[in-house]
Amino acid sequence: MEKEIVVLPGDGIGQEIIDSAIQVLEKIGEKYGHAFRFIHHDIGGTSYDKHGTPLTQEAIDDCLEADAVLLGAIGGPKWDNLPPEVRPEAGLLKIRKALNLYANIRPIKGFAPLLHASPLKEEIIKGADILIVRELTGGLYFGTPRERRNEGNEVVDTLLYTREEIERIVDIGFQSAMMRKKHLTSVDKANVLESSRMWREIVEEKSKEYPEVTVEHMLVDSASMRLITHPTSFDVIVTENMFGDILSDEASVLTGSIGMLPSASLSGKFGLYEPVHGSAPDIAGKGIANPLGMILSAAMMLRYSFDLQKEADAVEKAVETSLEKGYHTADLNVKNGTKVGTKEMTEIVISHIE
Ligand code: IPM
Ligand code: MG
Repeated sequence: MEKEIVVLPGDGIGQEIIDSAIQVLEKIGEKYGHAFRFIHHDIGGTSYDKHGTPLTQEAIDDCLEADAVLLGAIGGPKWDNLPPEVRPEAGLLKIRKALNLYANIRPIKGFAPLLHASPLKEEIIKGADILIVRELTGGLYFGTPRERRNEGNEVVDTLLYTREEIERIVDIGFQSAMMRKKHLTSVDKANVLESSRMWREIVEEKSKEYPEVTVEHMLVDSASMRLITHPTSFDVIVTENMFGDILSDEASVLTGSIGMLPSASLSGKFGLYEPVHGSAPDIAGKGIANPLGMILSAAMMLRYSFDLQKEADAVEKAVETSLEKGYHTADLNVKNGTKVGTKEMTEIVISHIE
């Protein structure tokens, strides 16, 4: 199989971990007979510094032509005081919209050697396996008007959703549940928001197409509580953009290792893959960043965009084996383990690819 992949290292440790993903993919290509071609572009603060914009049109054009996109991370204190339209985050929002990446998929599953580092008691977190499906191109993030008015004394953000936007993400929620334990929790704020009442109606309608899936509606405040008290009671969570942003950060720390978590932002089979963690400016350039979330994001790309299940399994297995053997980066706490840097960790994973 031949595939063209745009790589956007971004800022901070993004620059370091992206190479880990490329090396792992090259190894997979060698072993399984695929040719992956990589095209590099800037995004975020790095792009702003070089091109005066957090995302160039050339980068967008190449992404539109490619088979998938890999992203490291964006942001950093250096760019915190820029005007909103050129901040690193604006690059991320722009690429989501330009590539129509409406479905953000964040699997939250712990690794046995790391669970002891969870802020939750091990008996509460053990066995938790959650898939968050977050709407990514609508809602408060993109609605207009969004402005200060009345001489700066009034502010408005708009929460807008069309029926079609809700239907397509709810559908992904149901499809994901069908591939897992067939339990879907739809999270909303239907006791207050009109958008949530329509969301709930659509979930009810859609559930007729998926009779095997058990559906549960949950208010977002209660869901945020349940994630901590009963994380094992969830299978798939589907929710709108802002709720998904908040709940996925909450869920990401439960397994004790945010550095391990991958994500996919999809538009059909096409996708952008990035680790859940940020650009970690405090440790950037030191060669100690954890590349595993990035590597697991590449595995998600193999699985979701290229349908290479065996290859994705091989990468995930190699990561698991490396951890079981006690290897870990500075951010992880493995009992009696061996602490290694980004490069070594990557080499260890590659050596375990079968
Ligand atoms: C995320 C991030 C982004 C978001 C920021 C960086 C704009 O928090 O991917 O969850 O809010 O969507
Ligand atoms: Mg977020």
